[in-house]
Amino acid sequence: PRTIYISRHGETEMNLEGRIGGDSNISENGKNFAEKLKEYLERENIENLRVWTSLLKRTKQTVENINAPKEHWKALNEIDAGVCEGMTYEEIATRYPDDFAARDRDKYHYRYPGGESYQDLVARLEPVIMELERQENVLVVCHQAVARCLLAYFMDQDSESLPYVKVPLHTIIKLTPIAYGCLVEHIPLNV
Ligand code: F6P
Repeated sequence: PRTIYISRHGETEMNLEGRIGGDSNISENGKNFAEKLKEYLERENIENLRVWTSLLKRTKQTVENINAPKEHWKALNEIDAGVCEGMTYEEIATRYPDDFAARDRDKYHYRYPGGESYQDLVARLEPVIMELERQENVLVVCHQAVARCLLAYFMDQDSESLPYVKVPLHTIIKLTPIAYGCLVEHIPLNV
């Protein structure tokens, strides 16, 4: 049976500062994850593995040294936080308190001014999921919100809990289809 591997990119400078969005480079720690990820995939010896990333630097840098055919999807880019791009949650709470509260009340439907909601993201990811369903073994290196949407689809999670699915950095999530569902394994790579 085929396997889908989902991971966030390696840690970035902006992750360290607690800033959302942007297009920053991976940190030294992020590079260590990239190396561990490559070694993990080599050990697994996966047949015809394909690697998909977003168009953002942090996902491309994370797979740079992996020896497999790669595809880059704009649809896999992180949720667009609009006017809040590059801010910390603290800054958002101070500058846009009503928005901050509204997001907390209904995180799935809340749309950042000039940006996207989780609901928007689910719609944007539909073609990716369609194609993923037709593929064999694929590693998808993406982003926190995007990974939540993909996981919720394969795990049949409802939209209310979707924005809260835990997707830690530096952890591979391995999905293996079984009768009526998916086996989900979390593989943290210690870096
Ligand atoms: O902080 C990393 C990040 O990927 C941001 O770019 C993004 O806005 C956020 O996570 C999504 O998580 P949440 O919806 O919980 O804010």
